[in-house]
Amino acid sequence: MAKHAARVASPRVVNIADLRTLARRRVPRVVFDYVDGGAEDEITLRENRRAFEEITFRPRQAVAIPHCDLRTPVLGCDLSIPVLLAPVGYSRVIHAGGEVAAARAAGQAGTGYILSTISGYPLEEVKAASVGPVFYQLYAMGGREVAEGALERARKAGFAGLFVTVDTAVAGMRERDFRNGMKELLGRSLLGKIRFSPQVLARPSWLTSFLLDGGVRPLPNVVVPGRGPMPLIDVGSALALSTISWEDLRWIHDAWRGPIIIKGVLTGEDARRAMDEGAAAIVVSNHGGRQLDGVQATLRALPEIVSAMNGQIEVLVDGGIRRGADIVKALCLGARAVLCGRAYAYGLAAAGEAGVARALEILRADLERTLRLLGCPSIAMLDRSYISCQRL
Ligand SMILES: Cc1cc2nc3c(=O)[nH]c(=O)nc-3n(C[C@H](O)[C@H](O)[C@H](O)COP(=O)(O)O)c2cc1C
Repeated sequence: MAKHAARVASPRVVNIADLRTLARRRVPRVVFDYVDGGAEDEITLRENRRAFEEITFRPRQAVAIPHCDLRTPVLGCDLSIPVLLAPVGYSRVIHAGGEVAAARAAGQAGTGYILSTISGYPLEEVKAASVGPVFYQLYAMGGREVAEGALERARKAGFAGLFVTVDTAVAGMRERDFRNGMKELLGRSLLGKIRFSPQVLARPSWLTSFLLDGGVRPLPNVVVPGRGPMPLIDVGSALALSTISWEDLRWIHDAWRGPIIIKGVLTGEDARRAMDEGAAAIVVSNHGGRQLDGVQATLRALPEIVSAMNGQIEVLVDGGIRRGADIVKALCLGARAVLCGRAYAYGLAAAGEAGVARALEILRADLERTLRLLGCPSIAMLDRSYISCQRL
């Protein structure tokens, strides 16, 4: 861990963009692009970032702040910062430490981790790794019985809530993955892998730890009766057969019996529907620009949804968060907290647990500095008066 921490220390890594640069050097192109890329023309991927750039701050100068309070209550948990680690599928392919490493780093930083259904580690192991809250994210791959099995295990293991992702009727068209041979990397055919081998051979340290970790493993939390854990290569087709609809929320509620958070909402109408169906919170999300390309930036969708929810349930947002200032802007627009995907996934690729810890450390330092420069003593006091957004 110490060796890895040195790899991501300052001045080599000063911001999240530096973690991205390091990630690019550590993992094969196919893995880097899986994390970095978006759907089709990547319009939404870019828009997510651009929307933050269009907001400017309105600081209150000459304000002394002896103590800056970053703590935030989110989904009944007291988080040290208003940031949760978003579900990132195939994390164990990005780095052998995978979901366990990310959950542990989140817990150490006093915040929460959301475990994707597409996890390489058993959910019990991930929960046990963290001293903070751990949430489960549901795709109903393999059907209702399979999902119910995972939910029962997650409930028993003490997961704090269930994120139900509703924007993945089919997997988005991530063109970089096709070009780089992501399917071949995850598949069983050795012959298929040969064509894409140079980029993998060019990253011997990743390849060694990938092979020592057992290579491509099936999904231990998607256990199909009579057949066992689902192979990774089946994920795409299984997703297409398992679209979650509003009607499914009834059996999901019955099976889970705990707080449900709907992830992937982009309109006020869908937000109201989620609330009517009993959601405890929603996540304004376009899946980091990885699903339907051409949908608007999440930051632009946020005000409509905050106003539709009118404070009745918590509104979280993700997409394009790379700096503490981005988090502050989202909170000024009414989000309770944000989810970060790539910001920590770059860290994971660069240095495993130490890289995720570094990403969180950078965001925390950014947050505190931004609040102090804004003249705002606490997260709870952020509101629209601190920003100007003529173009939103
Ligand atoms: C590599 C990668 C894998 C992802 N896998 C999942 C997943 O399994 N389930 C899910 O709900 N969202 C998934 N997402 C979406 C994230 O949870 C989140 O919505 C998105 O990353 C936010 O955008 P950002 O990466 O710009 O922070 C994934 C995102 C990335 C980058």
